[in-house]
Amino acid sequence: MLSNQADGSKKRKSLHGHWSSRMAFVLAVTGSAVGLGNVWKFPYVAGENGGGAFVLVYLACVILVGMPVMMSEILIGRRGRRNPVATMKLLGEEEGSSRHWQWIGLAGVIAGILILSFYSVVAGWTLAYVLKSLTGAFAGATGESVAAQFNLFVGDWRWVTLCHTVFMIVTIFVVARGVERGLEQAVRFMVPALLGLMVILLGYSIASGSFGAGLEFMFTPDFSKLSWDSALDAMGQAFFTLSIGMGAIMAYGAYLPEETSISGASAAVVVADTSIAILAGLIIFPLVFANALDPAGGPGLVFQTLPLALSQMPAGAFFSTLFFVLLAFAAWTSAIGLMEPAVAWIVEHFNRTRAQAAVMVGGLIWFLGLGSVLSFNVLSEFTFLQGTIYNNIDYLTSNVMLPLGGLFIAVFAGWVMCRNSTADELGGAGTVYRFWRFLTRFVAPIGILFVFLKAVGLLPDLS
Ligand code: PFF
Repeated sequence: MLSNQADGSKKRKSLHGHWSSRMAFVLAVTGSAVGLGNVWKFPYVAGENGGGAFVLVYLACVILVGMPVMMSEILIGRRGRRNPVATMKLLGEEEGSSRHWQWIGLAGVIAGILILSFYSVVAGWTLAYVLKSLTGAFAGATGESVAAQFNLFVGDWRWVTLCHTVFMIVTIFVVARGVERGLEQAVRFMVPALLGLMVILLGYSIASGSFGAGLEFMFTPDFSKLSWDSALDAMGQAFFTLSIGMGAIMAYGAYLPEETSISGASAAVVVADTSIAILAGLIIFPLVFANALDPAGGPGLVFQTLPLALSQMPAGAFFSTLFFVLLAFAAWTSAIGLMEPAVAWIVEHFNRTRAQAAVMVGGLIWFLGLGSVLSFNVLSEFTFLQGTIYNNIDYLTSNVMLPLGGLFIAVFAGWVMCRNSTADELGGAGTVYRFWRFLTRFVAPIGILFVFLKAVGLLPDLS
């Protein structure tokens, strides 16, 4: 498996095959990054946190923390060429540190399972909204009627469970077939189509929404509204939307051909992902204000604004169907990424086939997902710590596990791995490398720790 190259570094091969091209990798990572996080979560979390200042912190986190951590994950993944648990263990030992780094990999596996448990439920809502759009359920909709329809739908646990089940079955199916087949084609079509449709929707939003009010809400920072909790939400959102901090990108990096530029690929993904999130905000907030909806309306936001707007457009039922189909696709390519660390780990560690691993992991996720299904109906009054079961899993993963996972990944790539190893993966010690190393060693770890400790109240105010 290991072959020593002339330069003395050990070049390995992945057990799961490699991406067919650089483009295939960029598409797969973009497919993982672009998902419900951009279209469903970003607008509603930005809305709940008052808009402008939140968006600014989110963008700062994407550039200063997200980008270096993404590059770190890819380079670690490619160097180890195994599942994230085995890679962290192998490189930990190889770099003269400890095999215990594997626990960071395992935490990522768990984070992926937990995230997908609620992600699949929301993806199920998307499937239901495809059907609703197809059958013209939103014709003549008003602000109140879309809100009532949404509440009625998520209030019925049987429907929601059915949709969650369908979504998990489709996801297990693709994951069982392997990373490349299916996934590449899906993303190649889905990302441009989603982007195209969103540009059309933006046109509509500019023409008939309160575009000025939407712009102001998103881009006028009012720092008096920003608490450390909101800053942590913004940082968590940056991690969630880029799929970093849990080994998903590391798992994809393991299949990356040797000669591909990691910084170029990361930049492409970050730009595509961030643009789609901002676009979603620019579509949704003008509609929120034009229809007197509440920007802090929570997880139902996109499921209310979009059907409402689309019902007023010519060929609205068609566009509405198309929109939710594309969103379901986007969720699907992300769900695959969420399962990959766990599946790759089980295949390698327990010697199972991909199909067996996918069914085992998928079954567990399906079961855990019932907690989120019930959070919006039967158990909506059952709250603790952060709120419902869904609220707690979301907070634990986005605001705790992903940032702390990212912190350890940055420390590992910046401090544990030697200069030669990282420079080797990042194509030499040029300006980009120095910049990456500075962000990875200092800015990202200190930034993450500071925001995290402030938000959980472990750092006192100095004033
Ligand atoms: N980035 C995805 C989104 O924004 O919807 C969510 C996600 C996918 C997070 C894959 C983590 C991951 F590994």
